[in-house]
Amino acid sequence: MPKEFLKEPNLEQHVITVKTAGPEDWRDYKEIWLEAVEKNPEAFSIDADPEDVRRETYRRDKHWKAHLKDPNAITLLLKDNKDTKGLAMAIDKSEIQRGLWRIRHVYISPAIRGQHAGEKLMVEILEKIKERGGKQASLNVMDNPEQIPALKLYEKLGFENKGKYEEVIHGKKKGRYDMLKNL
Ligand SMILES: CC(C)(COP(=O)(O)OP(=O)(O)OC[C@H]1O[C@@H](n2cnc3c(N)ncnc32)[C@H](O)[C@@H]1OP(=O)(O)O)[C@@H](O)C(=O)NCCC(=O)NCCS
Repeated sequence: MPKEFLKEPNLEQHVITVKTAGPEDWRDYKEIWLEAVEKNPEAFSIDADPEDVRRETYRRDKHWKAHLKDPNAITLLLKDNKDTKGLAMAIDKSEIQRGLWRIRHVYISPAIRGQHAGEKLMVEILEKIKERGGKQASLNVMDNPEQIPALKLYEKLGFENKGKYEEVIHGKKKGRYDMLKNL
């Protein structure tokens, strides 16, 4: 083996890309969403009852495909090389207010957190919303310490905190922050 080759460090190339998911991506979408609810159920307010998490696991294939066919939704998958490591979606809420979109299910796999993948995904989804004529993006963040990274990420991107509201889920009191950004 040539000497130079031995000296080369074993660098693994990480190519991060963001893809708009279509129906053919339903398995990747399902896999990353189930990872998200397993690893961070508190982020999606489904931690109050284990049955809520289990219900996601038992959904039929047609559920995942149908979501990716929805003309009023945008679903993005973040890829680290070929592996799906992140998810974000947005739903057109024009029936509530013209130009309003709701962002949901923002998730990055723990292994690649803190490397600006979440920011890349968010920038991309805001772009896609604008391309579709969106004027405002809204989202909710649960009021718990685990959500501080998310809160900081949205603040960095210019989302304004519109205040906290309380709700009771399965008998447990939860607080959520409402955040809004003009596009
Ligand atoms: C929130 C989440 C998507 C962030 O993804 P990420 O790829 O780790 O975040 P990024 O590396 O892109 O960080 C971008 C900015 O967010 C903020 N941020 C991210 N992680 C942070 C942390 N641990 N503490 C404080 N701020 C943080 C910073 O402002 C950071 O910018 P900076 O590094 O220039 O200061 C990720 O932590 C996650 O999936 N969490 C669990 C699920 C969740 O909470 N989803 C949101 C539901 S509302």
